[in-house]
Amino acid sequence: AEDGLSGWLRYARIKGANGYHNKLPSAIVTLNATEGSPVYTAGQELSDGISGIFGKDLDFATTNTRKPPRDTTATVGTVSAYIDSNPGAADRLPELVDDGFYLSVSKGNVLILGQNERGALYGAFHYLSLLAQGNASDFTLTSNPEAPIRWVNQWDNMQDGGTHGSVERGYGGDSIFFWDGKIRDDLTRAGQYARLLASIGLNAVVVNNVNADAKTLTPENMDGLGRIADAFRPYGVQLAVSLNFAAPDTLGGLGTFDPLDETVAKWWKDLTDELYKRVPDMAGYLVKANSEGQPGPMTYNRTLADGANMFAHALKPHGGIILFRAFVYDHRTLNQTLDWKADRANAAGDYFHDLDDKFEDNVVIQIKYGPIDFQVREPVSPLFSHLVKTPSAIELQISQEYLGQQAHLVYLAPMWKEILDFDFRVDGKPSRTSDILNGKRFNRKLGGYAGVVNVGTNTTWLGSHLAMSNLYAYGRLAWDSSATSEGMLEEWIKMTFSDDKKVIDVITKLSMQSWPAYEDYTGNLGIQTLTDILLGHYGPNPASQDGNPWGQWTRADGDTIGMDRTVWNGTGFAGQYPPEIAAMYEKVETTPDNLLLWFHHVPYTQVLKSGKTVIQHFYDAHYAGSAVAQTFPQLWETLRGRPGIDDERFDHVMYRLVYQAGHSLVWRDSINTFYANKSGIADTKGRVGNH
Ligand code: GCU
Repeated sequence: AEDGLSGWLRYARIKGANGYHNKLPSAIVTLNATEGSPVYTAGQELSDGISGIFGKDLDFATTNTRKPPRDTTATVGTVSAYIDSNPGAADRLPELVDDGFYLSVSKGNVLILGQNERGALYGAFHYLSLLAQGNASDFTLTSNPEAPIRWVNQWDNMQDGGTHGSVERGYGGDSIFFWDGKIRDDLTRAGQYARLLASIGLNAVVVNNVNADAKTLTPENMDGLGRIADAFRPYGVQLAVSLNFAAPDTLGGLGTFDPLDETVAKWWKDLTDELYKRVPDMAGYLVKANSEGQPGPMTYNRTLADGANMFAHALKPHGGIILFRAFVYDHRTLNQTLDWKADRANAAGDYFHDLDDKFEDNVVIQIKYGPIDFQVREPVSPLFSHLVKTPSAIELQISQEYLGQQAHLVYLAPMWKEILDFDFRVDGKPSRTSDILNGKRFNRKLGGYAGVVNVGTNTTWLGSHLAMSNLYAYGRLAWDSSATSEGMLEEWIKMTFSDDKKVIDVITKLSMQSWPAYEDYTGNLGIQTLTDILLGHYGPNPASQDGNPWGQWTRADGDTIGMDRTVWNGTGFAGQYPPEIAAMYEKVETTPDNLLLWFHHVPYTQVLKSGKTVIQHFYDAHYAGSAVAQTFPQLWETLRGRPGIDDERFDHVMYRLVYQAGHSLVWRDSINTFYANKSGIADTKGRVGNH
């Protein structure tokens, strides 16, 4: 039986393994690798992988002498180490950027060269992923990451009320890093996590919650952070830390945390120097400030840039960067009843709009994909189009906070692809989100991706085997946003389960149907997910959206529904987009149906482009989406006993899919009944409401 710890890196024996042996190397040579370095790890992975997948054991030359191999060899190292020993090769090798790799396979001779050590490891993982999928043919490949920032955010707490290090919005158990306010003694899982992340090109982890505990920075805990970094280092994964803006006061006892106060700036500088003594390769910081009650520079009437730059100065001598979150809003000042124009969606744009030329060059603004909060459907945050000089990173959420919390299967790559492909038309020119992030559109060096992953101690990492496709796809898209949703799934299925056609077809079908189905049986037409806002963001509770200051409003009454975000009559949010896009969202007629209620307040009888009314669309979509979910357990049943589907994982997945099928009916009936009661309009098909 399999637990899920190795994820997609199972290196399970493939069909006809012996037939491949003559296409494989017989020895591995690592160039200038010291034990524990990423190149050394690459050699070990190649050895373990080829032994697992094919049952072929390779000589592993850990020496740095280049004794000519007897037989076919896999050589792995950095470009510069290779050129040192083969000066003539310099001209033949392609251009690589940081973390990029070159890979050539020819009759069992394999050359894997990274621009840096990490790149060499990525090249080894890439070769192994092809082998695990049964592909050992000759080829050469140059692969460079699209963006340098490919980070993971963990929302891990140092401790909850008791001893546990819990994970905020984590659905896979306790923190793998923290226990009882300290860093765990045993960090085996941290290393295993880094291995998974490295295999998909992710290069840094922020280990503690954005709602940061100042105690993370006590001397003892800084030592502990150093141990986490040590566990990550063999995989080329860098450590990063979330900061609590008030720490100079609450931890340092300065009586202030004003970013323009010199003692405060010095406190952060000294602390940063201390951290770099323990973690010389630390990636940097993540900061959530002036958001949801968290302290920040605005507490002292300073700008967000004043706050971010203070950290930037402290990090600069060490080469670190700061990701400063754009998720800034004050839930205490939002009042729905009094103010038709109040809108949480406006906050990020309002706060950051005038700051574009105010940030130091090692500041990156980390922006959630949508202007509210990880909903099943949101327009892409307009802030991406406002920051021209300042680099940005997109914040995606792998942890399915509003999206079924891993109890529902929701494969998110199709949603992320829509977001990354969105064209803002800045200055009337093609301006895709992905090209803004990778620096092409505005000619920037920094930028990229931050994914809130929130794995835990559960042996499936995320609490669900099938949810791991989301982590896999996140890493692959951060490397190459043109990867297709189906293509990434197929790779992941082959490596996680098997290349059995039935297995691939069924899991692909389930996964590709899952996001549209979830949107159908939860919140439609851009009204947001309609989960319970106050209790854990799970399960249907459309009434909970309104009448509180959290700003996820629907403004539903007896006749009408939707947020008027137009410029002419509403909150003005539509006007935050560049002109062509603003014009599209300003009018009901040109707004896509799936965002109608995000931008407009309309009668339930409003007719959509599809020809249906809003209310009838609600009814039909909820029936259609839940009907799709009803098919999931039956589909999964067809995989019982198929290659790669062991009983343990079969049962684990089945349990969740049966639950999802049932819960989708709860969703359907709750939402439909709620709006039937509210609107007094019955379903034309006689399923809901009074006739
Ligand atoms: C969401 C989430 C919080 C989190 C916040 C953030 O609101 O529910 O748990 O702290 O986002 O991203 O800062």
